[in-house]
Amino acid sequence: MATIASPVEINSEVADFLKRPRKMFIGGAWVEAASGKTFDTYNPATGEVLAKVCEGDHVDIDRAVKAARKAFEEGPWPDMVPAERARLLWKLAELIDEHKEELAELETLDNGKPLLFSRIVDVPTAAANFRYMSGWATKIEGSTIPISMPRAKYFAYTLREPIGVAGQIIPWNFPLIMASLKLGPALAAGCTVVLKPAEQTPLTALRLGELIQEAGFPDGVVNIVPGFGETAGAALAAHPDVDKVAFTGSTEVGRLIVTAAAGNLKKVSLELGGKSPNIVFADADLDCAIPGSANAIFFNQGQICAAGSRLFVHKSIFDKVVAGVAEASKKFQIGPGIDPATTLGPLVSQEQLERVCGYLDSGIKDGAKAAIGGRKIAGSGYFVEPTVLVDVRPEMKVVREEIFGPVVTAIPFSDPNEIVKSANDTHYGLASAVWTRDVSTAHKVAAKIRAGTVWVNCYNIFDAALPFGGYRQSGWGRECGREGIELYTETKAVCAQL
Ligand code: NAI
Ligand code: MG
Repeated sequence: MATIASPVEINSEVADFLKRPRKMFIGGAWVEAASGKTFDTYNPATGEVLAKVCEGDHVDIDRAVKAARKAFEEGPWPDMVPAERARLLWKLAELIDEHKEELAELETLDNGKPLLFSRIVDVPTAAANFRYMSGWATKIEGSTIPISMPRAKYFAYTLREPIGVAGQIIPWNFPLIMASLKLGPALAAGCTVVLKPAEQTPLTALRLGELIQEAGFPDGVVNIVPGFGETAGAALAAHPDVDKVAFTGSTEVGRLIVTAAAGNLKKVSLELGGKSPNIVFADADLDCAIPGSANAIFFNQGQICAAGSRLFVHKSIFDKVVAGVAEASKKFQIGPGIDPATTLGPLVSQEQLERVCGYLDSGIKDGAKAAIGGRKIAGSGYFVEPTVLVDVRPEMKVVREEIFGPVVTAIPFSDPNEIVKSANDTHYGLASAVWTRDVSTAHKVAAKIRAGTVWVNCYNIFDAALPFGGYRQSGWGRECGREGIELYTETKAVCAQL
């Protein structure tokens, strides 16, 4: 048993996994980068190097795309019946369950998030996503279409076919969940995949690759190439033999993906940033709304695209709600994620730490006040205090831009009819929430908000069956549910003269 800068013993399988440089998964084999290069991944709780990982670039991406193309066109995968794909996906979910403790520890060490949440959220959700998509493999249907051509008789129908080779680029905030959200629907639909995990958190995706192999997926169906965005990611997005690119990450890189995809006009789906409004009406049940609003911004250290980062509160209860969220923030046990008592961990990287602290400085400089928090936590590791900013104005950077940290701006409102305008005053449109006891208010506001998700009297409720994605600059397309499957299929119309 090894320990990693923490009094907590880690699983011996995890310790073993971290010892050797992790290779990439191409065509069913574990290989080094063509360049021979490796990069380091860090433990965010200490800033120390956690493991070495082979660094893929355009050469490795090309090898992986060739393997995925071959597996799409030849070998067992294209001949496999849907029920067999379903069985493999289900088997993968079972393997995740079998290795849940190991995966949870690996996720926590690489990302920093509390082990508590890796155990009860990340790992089980990844398994649930594969199970849900396993059910879809046998239910991807076309339809028969009555057409109106005169004179002859026709029989017309549609088929939904796999789109081909999918390139998938994922971020670091929920590494294993992101991998499952991307791989699940692609594999259920019969695509083959090249997955590029985030350079900050490649480890659970690589361990997942071993489980994919163990589950019995044919060689080349899933290829996993760790590496940096500007090199491996960009090569994947631009590759002329990739049929579809799916991306989750920053809006800025989302735009680069669209440009890169233009070369061969590959299909694109994007899940990007957000600045989601969380609206508490005067009649809300504050026993739910206050902890719910704290969870909306502090869960996962605020590193979640759906974070409720603009808290709008009716002025009659503003002070009470702000004090309540501040009080809730004090209850977090802040520490290394690997300590099972921790409920708020470090941010993922030095870069994110600097980014979030930069926003805190800019907010204060612009005249905002921290009702609680507002600073980096001294010492090693990338820790930031959970923060509530008040006295903010709509034009401030902290109100307009995605901070991606445990920082919420609290804004009072007086006119319930005007609040939707403020809520929609953003380029984003990912998520939102309404807290009220009035059913009519809830659904009226839900109808007017320009966002892909509206939560009523709850927050951060995700499900494999529930479409998730953004309006406006929060993205293109919806993951999860039937729409998630449709991102990986093409419709073919077949028309026969009888
Ligand atoms: P990013 O968008 O740069 O990285 C996400 C993924 O894209 C990673 O796998 C990265 O390697 C890849 N990537 C980066 N540049 C690329 C390029 N030119 N071509 C292809 N792939 C590329 O996000 P980053 O820098 O890690 O975080 C910056 C900000 O992005 C965060 O502060 C947050 O606001 C936002 N973000 C949003 C996420 C979401 O869930 N919507 C997740 C992560 C970050
Ligand atoms: Mg970046």
